[in-house]
Amino acid sequence: MSVRALARSQVRGLAPYKAAIQVADTVRLNANEAPWRNAGDEFRRPLNRYPEIRPARLRKLLAAHYGTDAGNLLVTRGSSEAIDLLMRVFCESGCDNVVTTTPTFSMYEHYAVVQGAELRKVASDPGQDFVVDADRVLAACDDSTKLIILCTPNNPTGTLVPGDVIREVLERRGDRSIIVVDEAYIEFADAPSVVDLVGRFDNLVVLRTLSKALAFAGARCGSVIASDSVIDMLDAVQAPYAIATPVIECVEDALDAEGLAAAAAFVAETIRERERVRAALARHDWVQTIWPSAANFLLVRVADAPGLMAHCEARQVLLRHFGGELEQCVRITIGSPAENDSLLAALADLEVSDG
Ligand SMILES: Cc1ncc(COP(=O)(O)O)c(C=O)c1O
Repeated sequence: MSVRALARSQVRGLAPYKAAIQVADTVRLNANEAPWRNAGDEFRRPLNRYPEIRPARLRKLLAAHYGTDAGNLLVTRGSSEAIDLLMRVFCESGCDNVVTTTPTFSMYEHYAVVQGAELRKVASDPGQDFVVDADRVLAACDDSTKLIILCTPNNPTGTLVPGDVIREVLERRGDRSIIVVDEAYIEFADAPSVVDLVGRFDNLVVLRTLSKALAFAGARCGSVIASDSVIDMLDAVQAPYAIATPVIECVEDALDAEGLAAAAAFVAETIRERERVRAALARHDWVQTIWPSAANFLLVRVADAPGLMAHCEARQVLLRHFGGELEQCVRITIGSPAENDSLLAALADLEVSDG
């Protein structure tokens, strides 16, 4: 079965929006643009003109960065937009479902709700370090499961889903679902991306983002890497001119050798800091569990999570508390060495006030 058959019927044959053509050195009176450059426009490409419908050079640079072909990559406004596009392309409202693990990134649920798709959550066990079990994920699927989303390393647990578990889900589910592997934090993990498998599995979709390791969350730039059939359908649904000219230019610049070397150094420092913060936290007797993490954060179970949140907030240090199944847990993002020192100083104070 072609992977196209999994898409909503309205999308399967949808042609991309036909925008005004853009040809260099022509008098452009075909797009209702302004003919003059605003004083605030200091970009290489003039802002009075629409950006390219899809940014060709940026697409090539990102494809080279991730080790894929430009035809297998769509540039998105962060991977958040990619999650939304996947729901809209594949899930028929009121009929289809999405299978994911829990706890995981809450945006999967958010966009499933927006699209009217059922979200099926396969619980992972904190007592087993939240490992993802292929049998249980597959058992949650039926004929209406259009997407299976695996987040690795998983937010907020930090758990890595091993490549052989992903391969097992791909092989056993066959072409009955799209398998989405969200690798937002993969640069912090001691494990390879599954991008290499895209050539072998038409139904594999890998999500990458510049928001974490590249320190570009404010630029809103993500990538979907998948078979050309999947990319073409996502492309047809994505808004024209989705990526703004300032974003195209600053991301092109960030992907040069110097920018990538700086990012690699930052990732190495974050991993060192993650283990320093882990060791420092482990010295507190109110810290009950610190789960293994392959990402730029730690999930920690403590004696009193809301109390810890309030204590840190009063000292201008913000942590994340999710409630629900993680009621006694906080997620701590690993910051700069100085920021981590501020956290540790705030926590030392907690011990004093508790004692
Ligand atoms: C697992 C995961 N995926 C995707 C995203 C979205 O990232 P962005 O839209 O900034 O690319 C996040 C953000 O925190 C995340 O944790």
